[in-house]
Amino acid sequence: MKFSTKTTALENTPTSCLVLGVFEDGVMTQTTAAMDKVSQGYLGKIIASGDISGKSEQSLLLHGVPNIKARRLLLIGCGNKEKLKDSKFISLLRNTGKALEQYSIGDALLALGDLDIKNLDAEHQALLIARTFQDGLYRYRSTRSKPTPDSKLKSLDIYLSDKSQQTTVRKGLNTGAAIGRGMAMARELGNLPGNICTPSYLAEQALKLGKAHKELKVTVLSEAQMKRLGMGSLLSVSAGSVQPAKFIIMEYRGTAADTPPHVLVGKGITFDSGGISLKPGAGMDEMKFDMCGAASVLGTFSALCELKPELKPRCNIVGLVASAENMPGSSATKPGDIVTSMSGQTIEVLNTDAEGRLVLCDALTYAERFKPASVIDIATLTGACIVALGSHVSALMSNDDTLADALYQCGLKAVDPVWRLPLWDEYQKQLDSNFADIANIGGPKAGSITAACFLSRFAKKYHWAHLDIAGTAWLQGKEKGATGRPVPLLLEYLLQQQK
Ligand code: BES
Ligand code: MN
Ligand code: ZN
Repeated sequence: MKFSTKTTALENTPTSCLVLGVFEDGVMTQTTAAMDKVSQGYLGKIIASGDISGKSEQSLLLHGVPNIKARRLLLIGCGNKEKLKDSKFISLLRNTGKALEQYSIGDALLALGDLDIKNLDAEHQALLIARTFQDGLYRYRSTRSKPTPDSKLKSLDIYLSDKSQQTTVRKGLNTGAAIGRGMAMARELGNLPGNICTPSYLAEQALKLGKAHKELKVTVLSEAQMKRLGMGSLLSVSAGSVQPAKFIIMEYRGTAADTPPHVLVGKGITFDSGGISLKPGAGMDEMKFDMCGAASVLGTFSALCELKPELKPRCNIVGLVASAENMPGSSATKPGDIVTSMSGQTIEVLNTDAEGRLVLCDALTYAERFKPASVIDIATLTGACIVALGSHVSALMSNDDTLADALYQCGLKAVDPVWRLPLWDEYQKQLDSNFADIANIGGPKAGSITAACFLSRFAKKYHWAHLDIAGTAWLQGKEKGATGRPVPLLLEYLLQQQK
């Protein structure tokens, strides 16, 4: 989709569809009121007729509005003026996209710059617009035999009453479009079934990205190479599967080679059957999404590569993906087995379904070699996370308050929020084992926290944060599908790291 800005008088700007906002109780935005004047009260009459009250989710398409160049005018409900915030703005944009789609409109002019949303400047508003519309174009097609038509919407203009904002708004649009494409990539990888999206498939996608962009170097380690590194914990997860595990290393160079990088680590379980500790059958298909952490790392790197040179973060970023399929084959790891991690710590595998931490711990040890400025792992790690926080917010746990605070703020800004859970020492003893240095489960209490406690044992040498995205990475039910989260949060964080 093409995004640009328009600064000519709104009524004289040609477009297939001009989009204007109406607040609850028919309260017009400034721009809508101005267009009402131009149309000699036409809009006011329509609103007064009650066809649109301005509640969120409402929209009304008008033809033949007097004295304006636009072929059509779409009034969009913005809800309560006082309660309008960025997350509601995003749903408003989605509704706008749906309405434009419904009427097969090819280009539109958005005049929503005066909604006056708290903590949202023009640049960031533009970012959210481009991100939402770009991501909104995504359709899952790969395994359908019948073609899914493309959206007709090809171009979106943003109306600016203040010309001086043009440069920053365009910056926001460019960044937002790249983030939207990164989200779409993460969603596609998440949605692909486990028989297509295997560890080898993820590795191929990463290598492809590396070939296409010279600022990105991609290396993939085989099981033999992982064995030589001593990644016994990671390899214990793929032991029961015919699909070989892959360890993917992505290195993005944004500044001098010796500058410590920020490292992202993604859980890439391409299917989680639970292994010998087999999961119940109902809903097990959703465990194809157990690589959404990895997908968010790949999506983030694709967005980094797609950003215009002047918008790219001038910092170094490493992406690590620990990918395996968790299956109960005859050579599978069994409950009670003890494995040795790359760190040297031994692990008693009391439950083979707690496999995410087993692949991540070796990746966290591998991360040490980069002498990182920060390490963030992203994982669909625990069902307990969904019990605790539901699906609106990802869980954040960290050994560093500054990093945790930064991620919290970035989550708010990116409208991709996280909420911190305590990672206190008191929880650590739930992982005691009689036979190894540590057990891989911590009992029924505080499952998300004990999972993070497990990871913390391997993340002592740097500032580290863990994002449990079990509740936010995909939607269930009729809307079943990957969300692309937390790509927006990760990019917000990385874009802030340039010195
Ligand atoms: N991938 C799952 C976590 C999960 C479950 C995410 C459901 C989203 C929805 C993870 O590998 C897992 O199975 N965790 C176990 C841990 C337990 C055995 C300690 C869980 O949450 O039940
Ligand atoms: Mn599991
Ligand atoms: Zn899992």
